[in-house]
Amino acid sequence: MNMNMEKNKDKKVVLSGIRSTGNLHLGNYFGAVSKFLKLQDEYDCRYFIADLHALTTNPDPKMLHESVKNILAEYLAAGLDPEKNMLYVQSDIPEISEMYLLLNMHVGIGELMRTASFKDKARKALGITSDSDEIEKEIIGNQTNQRVNAGLLTYPTLMAVDILIHHADYVPVGKDQEQHLELTRRFARRFNSFYGVDYFGEPVNFNFGGEALKVPGLDGSGKMGKSEGNCIYLIDDEKTLRKKVMRAVTDEGPKVPDSPVSQPVANLFLLMDLVSDKEVVDHFRKAYADCSIRYGDMKKQLAEDLLKVTLPIRERILDIRSNDELLAKVVKSGAERARAYAADTLREVREIMGIRKI
Ligand code: TYM
Repeated sequence: MNMNMEKNKDKKVVLSGIRSTGNLHLGNYFGAVSKFLKLQDEYDCRYFIADLHALTTNPDPKMLHESVKNILAEYLAAGLDPEKNMLYVQSDIPEISEMYLLLNMHVGIGELMRTASFKDKARKALGITSDSDEIEKEIIGNQTNQRVNAGLLTYPTLMAVDILIHHADYVPVGKDQEQHLELTRRFARRFNSFYGVDYFGEPVNFNFGGEALKVPGLDGSGKMGKSEGNCIYLIDDEKTLRKKVMRAVTDEGPKVPDSPVSQPVANLFLLMDLVSDKEVVDHFRKAYADCSIRYGDMKKQLAEDLLKVTLPIRERILDIRSNDELLAKVVKSGAERARAYAADTLREVREIMGIRKI
């Protein structure tokens, strides 16, 4: 039984979302949104704002609401066309919450506890700094004031539902989300095999033939992320962005020709690869190799090239963000369209699982 899947035969379905926790940063932009933009003409694209996922970190209610509007405005400002793409807010689709409950019946606590993102968040919540695998003990143990909520644990189930409820073929995401995508495929296979159906497909990332991207932070760390506090935001003004880039961590500089590149400097090169012309990157690579590089010059150039990408988007964000009427219209229409698909899938899933009218 795959009635809902049949509907989209003419075009493959692309689905992705971003948590509403503040503003979009360059990791979100290059890891996800820039891919969304490239896909919007060719595929049946559905992009949403994951406000239920944002709840897992217990945001202030007012901030959460503001963040939903921010991300929506930023989607539009980045160039997502609401006519071409279904743009909606996750919580506007109540079918997702019900299917999350249903799918959870087929998800193991153990596999959820082993998920890297859960371990990471749980460690942060409990203030555990070591990489110890004893995290399960800490979670179940006698922590008094701190807790790790069940929503955080079942985060991958909710994400799988976001994807499966649309029978998505492609899920463009950054590298950090690939484990969640792997779990989605596992849950889909498990559901099919438990009920003896061929109902859910196995969605994959979309990388245009390359690798999934991990945009690095400016602090020398591996990943740009909100909780890492090392982000450049699309909404950053010129001065802020320049300041952040000029403060980026580097090293003492190469002392002998052709030295290996340290992580913080490799990060700057990686950012440059994303925004600068090839000749510019080659020039600095050569300067690194022959020890003539001046990181100050490199950072100035990087800031310049980043601003070329972010400033036009920033201007549009400021414009769109104040237009509540437009934002409301976009998500209303998106939710109506998304709900139609979600309702069909939920009805079929209920039927498959045996939840039927007497
Ligand atoms: P979130 O909100 O953390 O990030 C949104 C998107 O941005 C990508 N991303 C990055 N890519 C490269 N380098 C980085 N430094 C970087 N930081 C973030 C993420 O990979 C992601 O594509 N669980 C998801 C939201 C979600 C979702 C879904 C995504 C909920 N349901 C269904 C796809 C399909 C998340 O927290 O992403």
